[in-house]
Amino acid sequence: MAKDTEFYNKISGRYSEDRYPDVANSYTQSFFNRRLELLVSAIKQTVLVQGSGLSVLEIGCADGVVLRKIYEVFNKNISYLVGLDISPKMIEVASRENSDVGILFKVRNDYKDLRKFNLILEVGVINYTESVSSEMAYAHSVLDDGGYYICSFAGTDSLLNRIKPGDKGYNNFLSYEEYEESIKEFFTIEKKIPVGFFVPLLWRLPALARFKQPIIENLFKYISPNLFHENIYVLRKK
Ligand SMILES: C[S@@+](CC[C@H](N)C(=O)[O-])C[C@H]1O[C@@H](n2cnc3c(N)ncnc32)[C@H](O)[C@@H]1O
Repeated sequence: MAKDTEFYNKISGRYSEDRYPDVANSYTQSFFNRRLELLVSAIKQTVLVQGSGLSVLEIGCADGVVLRKIYEVFNKNISYLVGLDISPKMIEVASRENSDVGILFKVRNDYKDLRKFNLILEVGVINYTESVSSEMAYAHSVLDDGGYYICSFAGTDSLLNRIKPGDKGYNNFLSYEEYEESIKEFFTIEKKIPVGFFVPLLWRLPALARFKQPIIENLFKYISPNLFHENIYVLRKK
């Protein structure tokens, strides 16, 4: 079993509890909450354009926390939701926790349906996959014509990586420019949304950091998006 699968199996019971609390107490928690917020707002723009009866696929859905949120916000527009992950334990938790709503959760290798989707999400996942170009090719192959693919990457240019270089446990870790080269083989980039500007020691005082973090991110997103820990890309099929 791959080391990432083992890791994510192990933390499946507390994945969203640790990362998505109602109130963030650390940089990591603020990062996950903010990324989800930005994702929802990016989907609002794409989903509203696409209308209703849409199908959505999330690759790397973990315990289903993101898809659950998408269901809650967009259930009027969406008719079919699928979540895939390589961790069987994550899929177990996701299925159990979301048994009240009609989301299909499957281990990625067991999913053989050839259905195409209007919207594909792959956030916080691609750095853990074996190859960026095969992820792009897979998303392209299951995305319907005119559909959107929203994915994110952590890039080597980030301030966090400059301050704390070294092994992050990723299988691929490139500059944003290099990721964009792979993207452009399959998709056009409609939007690039920076998330997570790491400031050392800021979260020693969480009450203050909760106010300062968004102000800092709003300022630096215009000046230098590549200094952010991740960028979310809103992509259109070529
Ligand atoms: C950091 S979590 C992100 C989860 C979720 N997308 C979110 O935004 O909170 C990464 C997830 O991707 C899964 N994963 C890693 N490699 C994968 C792959 N090749 N295919 C599908 N899922 C994968 C892991 O098991 C884990 O659940």
